[in-house]
Parts: sequence; C-alpha cells; structure tokens
Amino acid sequence: MSTVTDSALNTDTAREEGAVPALSAMLAGLPERQGFGDATLIRLAEGSIDLGGGNPDTALLPTAVYRDAATAVAHSDSFPNLLRYSASAGLSSFRAAIANRDQVDAERVIVSNGGAHGLALAVLGLLDPGDTVVVDDPVYPLFLRVLELVGVNIVAIPVTHDGIDVDLLAERLRDGLRPKALFTVPTFQNPSGVTLSTEKSAALVELAERYGFTIIADDPYREITFPETVIPDRPRLRDSDRVVAVNSFSKTLGPGLRLGWLTVPEAFSASFTKLRNRLDGQTNGVLQATVERMLADERYPTAMATAGEGYARKAQVLTTHLRDKFGDRVEVADPTGGFFVWARLLGDFDDARLFDTAQDLGVSYQRGEWFAAGSEQFRGFVRLAFSEQSSDNLREGVNRLAGAWQAVLAS
Ligand SMILES: Cc1ncc(COP(=O)(O)O)c(C=O)c1O
Repeated sequence: MSTVTDSALNTDTAREEGAVPALSAMLAGLPERQGFGDATLIRLAEGSIDLGGGNPDTALLPTAVYRDAATAVAHSDSFPNLLRYSASAGLSSFRAAIANRDQVDAERVIVSNGGAHGLALAVLGLLDPGDTVVVDDPVYPLFLRVLELVGVNIVAIPVTHDGIDVDLLAERLRDGLRPKALFTVPTFQNPSGVTLSTEKSAALVELAERYGFTIIADDPYREITFPETVIPDRPRLRDSDRVVAVNSFSKTLGPGLRLGWLTVPEAFSASFTKLRNRLDGQTNGVLQATVERMLADERYPTAMATAGEGYARKAQVLTTHLRDKFGDRVEVADPTGGFFVWARLLGDFDDARLFDTAQDLGVSYQRGEWFAAGSEQFRGFVRLAFSEQSSDNLREGVNRLAGAWQAVLAS
C-alpha cells in the first residue's frame, strides 16, 4: 500500500529526473500578453473612462423581468428538480424555446455556458491540429485564442461593408485553399459593426457545401438592433448542415449569467452532446428555467426594443462627438446595432504611444492591431464601446482621446 510519504518521495524522485511536467505542452505553449482582453495591458486609474469593454449597460438589462422569473422559478414545484443533474444538451423545454426563436429543430440546440464556451465546443468539436481555418479580418480576437488550444493555420479574409469578402474567398478556394472551417460574426460584427447580407450568406453557404468546410457563425449581437435596423433574413445560415451557430445571452441579459447555445447540424447533435458532457456536464438548470420564463414574458420584446433605442442613442452621441472633435481626420461609419464604433484616426502617429497617452489622460479603448488576423495591421484604428458609458462619459472619453491624439501628433 502506498503511503503519503511514499508518494511524496516518488514525486520528488520523478521531479529530480524531470519526469513530472507541471503543465500540458498545450497550456505551457500558450502566448502570454496578447492585447485584447488582457487586463495587464490596460491601466484604468480612478476616474478614467473605459471605452474598451463589451459590457452591456446594466440599466438596459431587463432586471425586473429577471427578478420575477427567478422568483417564480424558486417558488415552482419543479424547483428542487432543477437542482439535480440534468441533460448535457440542456433542459428539453429550454431547448425547445430556443429552437422556436431560431426556427430550427430542438434536437439541434445545445445549451452552453455562454458564447466563449460555445466557441470552445465548436473548435474542439470540428478541428484538428494543423487544419486551416478562415477567419474575419478584422476578427473577434478571443476566437483566435480558442484556436490556440488546437493549433491551426489561420487564413484572414477581409470584412467589407456587408460582411466577409465572399468573392475573394471564392477566388482563394478556386486557387486551392482548403479550409476545414470558417469563422465569422454575421451581425454587427465585432469590431467593424457590419452585417452579412442575405446574398452573401447564401453564397458563403454554397461555398461551404461545395468545398466541404463548416461555417462557425458567432452571433451574440443579433438582438442588439437599433430602431430602424432590419437584420437581413439568412435562411441558409439556419438550414444548412454546413453551419454551426454559436450564440449567447451575454449582450442582452448580461455576461455574468453565462448562458448561451449552439445550433449544430442534426448529424452533429449527439457528438457535440458527448463532447459537452465530457467537458462540464451541464448548464445550471435553475438558470435555464429562469431564462425560459423570461423569453416567454410579454415584457421581453419591449425590453429588447428599449435596449436597442438606448444603445442607438449612445452610438449617436459617440459618432457625433467623434466627428465634432476630429472633423475630417476620422473615418467612422454609423453603427446600426451592437456595442461598438470602429473608427480610423488619420495622421502620422504611433498607435502604441496614442494608447499610452490616452490612458495617461484617463481613457481606455481597444487598439485596432489587436483585431488583426493577417498582415493588415489596422493602423490608426480604434474600437470604442458605447454600450456601457453614459452620454457625458462618452463625450468626455472622446475629448480625452482627442487630447491624446493631438499630443502624439505634435510630438
Ligand atoms: C463576437 C463575440 N463572440 C463571443 C463573445 C463571448 O460572449 P460570452 O460573454 O457569452 O462568452 C463575445 C463577447 O464579447 C463577442 O463579442
């Protein structure tokens, strides 16, 4: 029988011989500081304004609907049952509610602990080391971090005014490119804010079907729609068995909830459930039941519309003030939804110095180069989040950014 002392001795001996690695090669090999999402690179002193994060405005979250739903669930007869282990793919009634909203079969829905978890499941479920993956450029950088878990070749395809450049992709495919998957954010893309058109989405799915790759469509901003905006209907993103859709309630109900879902092709449903089961078993049943009630609450659509109006007002304050302060020295499009403005500041300046100086003056944001997936470095670009800050803070944040920009231009 082995005693504690024996095993400690064994471990010591093994360590001396270098036989006990502390971390897996995958984990030990992950790069350290990478910019986006890296808190060590951001200095947020007291009183500084953060235009960097992707948080919703808590005042625009439907907290009353949430409280009522949580209370009703806690007092329901099914509450004790919700505290038990439950199905890895999610509670069947919740999956059905999501399937109903997304116009897909409930079997295809797999509940996740938020969008990032869904992306990890998609990557682990679809990709092998050495595969080639096409991504938006600029890209949502945390997807690249998930890809690092597997180790793949990345091919960047530019995002144009209506989504990823499908014509260029077709050309590259004709020339022999053979990706296993393609990643895109189809609605209010992070960071550029653009939305994939119906025509392009159909052409993209046709390419996926012809060349045999899977589209990972990551769509967490779909419900953050400004009042005049109509999201194009993209039936092929729903009905093709070449699409894995990843979604999240983080932007509409709050990222602290950790709740999202995948819609996978029917043929993948059992395999993805198996993968999910091995990673973390299940999503919190109380939470699923609560959000199910929220989705059925008649106040929910109104709450979403109100949030859309609020975000539209904030976006307008930010773009108007940017144009006031920078004049023809800024290139910026008006967002139609989502949380971000993707702006290009003109002039000959060093992006790293601008970021440093801006933080000295009390404003933070995301640097353009952190969204680069290929050789284009997005010099001069900044991603400014309007979602969380008040109008006053948005104006003051732009004032500080303009002050920093003047300072680095002058030096
Ligand atoms: C494009 C995109 N995908 C996924 C996520 C992850 O969302 P979650 O908080 O649900 O993990 C985000 C969050 O910012 C995002 O912008």
